[in-house]
Amino acid sequence: MEKFYTLFFVAGIGCFVVALVLSMIFPWMTLHSYHDMEYKSLEQLAAQPSQEFVGLAQAFPSEFEAAYGTISPQSYAKALQRGRDLYVGQACWHCHSQYVRVVSNEAQRFGPPSTAQEYQNALNKPHLWGTRRVGPDLARQGGKHSNDWHIAHLINPKNVVPNSVMPPYAYYFTKQGAPKADGFALVTYLQWLGTSGQQAQP
Ligand code: HEC
Repeated sequence: MEKFYTLFFVAGIGCFVVALVLSMIFPWMTLHSYHDMEYKSLEQLAAQPSQEFVGLAQAFPSEFEAAYGTISPQSYAKALQRGRDLYVGQACWHCHSQYVRVVSNEAQRFGPPSTAQEYQNALNKPHLWGTRRVGPDLARQGGKHSNDWHIAHLINPKNVVPNSVMPPYAYYFTKQGAPKADGFALVTYLQWLGTSGQQAQP
């Protein structure tokens, strides 16, 4: 029996060393080689309002003006930050990841695998990788659908995807389907995902 204790003791230390190397030393080495990664502040990200943000302002001029005033880097930054806060508060990350994995040919569906660099900005601190995928990955969502699609989808996902199990978020929109301040923010944020210019090129 004594010799088994020694065996388990040695095996235990061995497993500890393997775990240390795999989950600490390797990640540290990878990230260390990126230590001079460029970091983008919210002001830098919002310097050029997206065409989708401009499109929302043009489609719903009075609602946009009431909620955000004019199209500017400041109003764009405000909508982006608000959109991210809602995404966190509504636990969208519980059903959606923001991380394209290197496995299972994900690149064919979502674009190039995510890299450390693209999380180096104010709208990814802390990152929203998520762990579950009840719905698809959203890391490259920007520009995939039109604003109108997002509005119809958020009001009731079944409007555009009949068998969707995503809950409706109709309260961000008026009865006529115009976005309220939060509706503008959420769509603006979704249209921003994957457009920071920090992504790896395919
Ligand atoms: C209960 C799980 C669940 C939650 C919570 C959830 N979703 Fe979804 N989502 C889904 C599923 C399932 C789909 C795929 C079917 C569809 O398109 O409706 C989806 C699809 C989407 C799509 C379309 C993706 C694509 O590429 O076509 C977007 C955008 C989206 N969700 C945004 C959100 C946002 C924003 C929130 C939070 C306000 C949210 N989701 C919360 C399950 C969820």
